[in-house]
Amino acid sequence: MNRREFLACSVAATLLPTIVRAAPAIRLKAEPVTARILPEGEAPTAMLGFNGSSPGPELRFRQGERVSVAFENATGRSSAIHWHGIHLDNAMDGVPELTQAAVEPGATFDYTFDVPYPGTYWYHAHHRSWEQVARGLYGPLIVEEPDPPAVDRDITVVLDDWRLERNGALHESFGNRHDFSHGGRMGNYARALFSTDTVRRGDRIRLRLINAATARMFPVKIAGGAGRVVAHDGMPLAEPAPLGELFLAPAQRTDVILDVAEPVSFALRARDGFFPLGAIAVSGSNPAPLGGPVAPLPAPDIPTPDGKAATRHTLVMQGGAMGGRHGGSDFWAFNHRSGMPVEPWRRFARGETVRIALRNDTAFAHGIHLHGHHFHEIGEDGALGHYRDTTLVDRQQSRDILCVFDNPGKWLLHCHTLGHQASGMKTWVEVA
Ligand code: C2O
Ligand code: CU
Repeated sequence: MNRREFLACSVAATLLPTIVRAAPAIRLKAEPVTARILPEGEAPTAMLGFNGSSPGPELRFRQGERVSVAFENATGRSSAIHWHGIHLDNAMDGVPELTQAAVEPGATFDYTFDVPYPGTYWYHAHHRSWEQVARGLYGPLIVEEPDPPAVDRDITVVLDDWRLERNGALHESFGNRHDFSHGGRMGNYARALFSTDTVRRGDRIRLRLINAATARMFPVKIAGGAGRVVAHDGMPLAEPAPLGELFLAPAQRTDVILDVAEPVSFALRARDGFFPLGAIAVSGSNPAPLGGPVAPLPAPDIPTPDGKAATRHTLVMQGGAMGGRHGGSDFWAFNHRSGMPVEPWRRFARGETVRIALRNDTAFAHGIHLHGHHFHEIGEDGALGHYRDTTLVDRQQSRDILCVFDNPGKWLLHCHTLGHQASGMKTWVEVA
């Protein structure tokens, strides 16, 4: 991707719709909306969204709360919502054909579940997601710590791209076979959307980055102050890491705590340099900066898995443009199987520790997501790495993950490049 492949438009800050704390019971209405994707002065974009906007409202819950969301489907098409990264009851996972029937146009579905772990999550449509997420059916979901880290501002940053016509309309080329067989639906306009557009010099801020794109990987550089990475996919790092260039595969999240020195800007690395995604302006200064080292976020109450006791399996990613066919008209496969098998790929006993070698035999990178759980990435040296729900496996690379399957039910395992998922790169496991 070169910078000039993007639409040239000034990058004004666009604010995310926020709802401060959601009441324990809320209503989320999916419907056609008019969104402001392009800057002021350019045309708005007709999309789908929730409660009048895309992205949908930021839902904020407290750790341990039992939440209930009445999903009202006014989109005129079947849909369902998935609560990405939440370890929830399987029946609430939002996967049509696996955990529930699709919610028909005009119908309502009540999602009731617990949010056991604090962190940065998101919700998104999980029916024809390659189209519905690209049309705007997603929003941030934050689970607050009972005792959150000391910061002046808690800011959500949604990274996304859109394929737009000059008149601001979404390009209607959803699900075309070229996108499916290559890197997925790439937009020609990319930016960061913020929940706050100004901060003070000297503020300590928490940035919650979410890659909501259906296909674009975001190599992102953040400037404007000294920062530390404190969490990936909602889960705290044992030790905050220095903020270098970040890399977020679709659906991945990263939390950063940063002391503001100047406007906080975000830029996407392109082949020929950096493309600006937007910035949070500075206005005034904080008379009493917090300063001091950034402490780790409280560790989740999760036992360290025993890798030696793990059962082992291998999942090979295959297919793609020039990668051969693996079944029907699908382009992608896991272990020579394309699409949703009737039987699960594997059955695990509840509590079983499993080591899965994810081997990418294709010419594209894939961000692989497991529903209902997090897993440890295993380093070359066998050490336990980050605890994530979506892991990036670069082309021709392989990565082992270690997962304690402690959540009973039928859980999807798929590539979060949503066109790859649609075109075969998905399977499921059953935990009983
Ligand atoms: Cu974020 Cu199966 O999805
Ligand atoms: Cu993929």
